[in-house]
Amino acid sequence: AKILVLHGPNLNLLGSREPEVYGRDTLADIDALLVQRAQAAGHELESLQSNAEHVLIDRIHQARLDGTAIILINPGAFTHTSIALRDALAGVAIPFIELHLSNVHAREAFRRHSYLSDIAVGVICGFGADSYRLALDAALTRLDRAGA
Ligand code: DQA
Repeated sequence: AKILVLHGPNLNLLGSREPEVYGRDTLADIDALLVQRAQAAGHELESLQSNAEHVLIDRIHQARLDGTAIILINPGAFTHTSIALRDALAGVAIPFIELHLSNVHAREAFRRHSYLSDIAVGVICGFGADSYRLALDAALTRLDRAGA
């Protein structure tokens, strides 16, 4: 099946951005690991990072046409601001897993609210780069159960 990974704003800075919060792995390191694990499980994985809300939204719309079975998304700060991203995900009706490197509940109060969590399959946060691996494992298990 096709798995789409979306990385929101500022995640291109991973590795150098507040490493005490977000860790030292770069986005390229993370993407390479995800592609390798998805392929080993017989799936196809594509990822996209953008700092622009409309680019993420357009990619979500495209996912409806390209047969994407599940989306993993770290929406970055758009988590806390973007009704448009929520509407896009709800609009295409593709199951998605929300994930964060940091534990958003242990930080500033404004990070506790997400516009996406209540319509996500599930949410993973707080495990650094491992949040991506755990989210992928959850997605692979779900695809397996669906026989996809
Ligand atoms: C983040 C958490 C968000 O609050 C923040 O704006 C980010 C990264 C995370 O992965 O921990 O950009 O999504």
